[in-house]
Amino acid sequence: MCGIVAYIGNKQAQPIVIKGLKRLEYRGYDSTGISIYNGSALHTLKTKGKVSDLEALIAQHPEQKATLALGHTRWATHGVPNDTNAHPQTSNSGNLVVVHNGIIENYASLKKELIHRGFTFSSDTDTEVLVNLIEDVQQQQGVKLGQAVQIALSQVIGAYAIVVFDRRKPNELVAARLGSPLAIGIGENEFFVASDATPFIEYTKEAIYLEEEHLAIIRVGKSIKIRKIKDDSLAEPYVEKLQMSLENIQKGGYDHFMLKEIFEQPKAIQDTLRGRLLSDEGVITLSSLREHDNRFLNAKRILIVACGTSWHAGLVAEYLLEDFTRIPVEVEYASEFRYRNPIIYPDDVVIAISQSGETADTIAAINIAKEKGAFIYGICNVVGSTISRITDTGCYTHAGPEIGVASTKAFTTQITVISLIGLYLGKANGTLSRSQYQEYLTELSTLPTKVEQILASQTFIEEVATSFKTAQNCIYLGRGYNFPVALEGALKLKEISYIHAEGYPAAEMKHGPIALIDKEMPVVVIATKKGYYDKVVSNIQEIKSREGRIIAIVSEGDTQVKALADYCLEIPDASEPFIPILSTIPLQLLSYYIAVQRGCNVDQPRNLAKSVTVE
Ligand code: F6R
Repeated sequence: MCGIVAYIGNKQAQPIVIKGLKRLEYRGYDSTGISIYNGSALHTLKTKGKVSDLEALIAQHPEQKATLALGHTRWATHGVPNDTNAHPQTSNSGNLVVVHNGIIENYASLKKELIHRGFTFSSDTDTEVLVNLIEDVQQQQGVKLGQAVQIALSQVIGAYAIVVFDRRKPNELVAARLGSPLAIGIGENEFFVASDATPFIEYTKEAIYLEEEHLAIIRVGKSIKIRKIKDDSLAEPYVEKLQMSLENIQKGGYDHFMLKEIFEQPKAIQDTLRGRLLSDEGVITLSSLREHDNRFLNAKRILIVACGTSWHAGLVAEYLLEDFTRIPVEVEYASEFRYRNPIIYPDDVVIAISQSGETADTIAAINIAKEKGAFIYGICNVVGSTISRITDTGCYTHAGPEIGVASTKAFTTQITVISLIGLYLGKANGTLSRSQYQEYLTELSTLPTKVEQILASQTFIEEVATSFKTAQNCIYLGRGYNFPVALEGALKLKEISYIHAEGYPAAEMKHGPIALIDKEMPVVVIATKKGYYDKVVSNIQEIKSREGRIIAIVSEGDTQVKALADYCLEIPDASEPFIPILSTIPLQLLSYYIAVQRGCNVDQPRNLAKSVTVE
């Protein structure tokens, strides 16, 4: 949450930082700001709203030629989104500016102490406390900027990614992280610091992902020095080659990133399977499993921790892994798991699922499971993310950057990875017969084409959306493997269209929610041929007799549900464990079109951020 971009080098810094902030708006977009150093003066402009509002503000001021700038796009934690609380935050002397992503938990006590020493505060932010704490260290101890930041940070409890600039040190930026990501792009005599690599992808392919509790002193004309915040010792920078391209992070002719990402799913699933599924040879090559299969095969239990959409993928995993391996699986909200003193055995395998690899609650859950000796397997999309680095091993989804705040291709590729894991283990422990294993393998390779087929019904789904765009509530129902899909469908609708939506196991209707059904209530039922079809048909009858409006997701060629439902969205047939990858696609499109028709900002829904790095 919150996006940071800083530039120091030989180019005009302001346009680079503004363009970078636009790419990071998925991380937060309630207020924004920039500080520019033009060689003699430090100018800071801040505003409530989006980066486009900041651009408008910049246009009202004299043009600044500067080769150093720091920018921020915010998702408010401390203090309402307004101009004053926006970052950068400036120290009392005006010498220091800081941009910050994270939360300083002990800011209140630090602030009290600083007030006692004569500091004054104009914002409600924890960041203004941090910048003044650094200044206080400088004033008290007369140390260099890097060391002042290091000393200040060792007094801080919480999470942060920060970039600090001192106008008395015009060739230097100091960056540090604990719990929130920071990437440093290394160009020709220029450096970029950002919350991810997207702001600098067209300038350099070389980057350092700053490690936990590391601090970087970045000087133009010199190399980067990295120190450990805990003991000030030097650390060796590890420079990575970025795989990402500019094309990956642009809309590519689509109206929204979300639509682009929905349509990328055939390729994303193909990329997830590439080199891992050799269906003709009957082989799954997942080195992370092969090297540790004794941990999985001897596990008495698999625990899955995740949040939001990734948690829904975890629920699908519960059905699939238990079916394929007969190893018991439990799925936990990471946010609950971390605070309830969970029972974890050293022979448990914990699978953490996260698109961003930066979700604070999931990271905390991993750390707890690690302390108790469990083996941790990560399923992440973002390469080099925190979760991918703190887990014992894992597997990337390779879905490519997901920029729309609503998760789409991350979900289907997470289930694809889980299918590979289930098949590998099911074969290894003998739960799946040879023929069953081979059938599933062959079928898995056909999924990208089936997803393409569903996407071709885009226009019809758009028409269906028109009939439901004014709804105020909506219920989603599914059974078995389709129950998590119902939850996911409801989450997609509520987060981007602001229509209240709930997902239920279809059979739970009678235990309460059926009281809500009347002719105003749209009910989305996932009624595919495989998976308790007859029982779901009975549930549809019950809704029909109470005049509910039904949109059904059905298998190709269905006639029975078609006779009952108001609208049917068809998907190709598949084995039950693979249905969620298909049945979720029409629900993504339905939510997308309803939100667009309601005039909502689908890529940046209100109050949300893509990467939830605070709890
Ligand atoms: C919903 C959505 C969120 C995320 C959740 C976890 O569309 O995107 O619910 O799934 O915040 O994020 P990751 O997967 O990055 O851990």
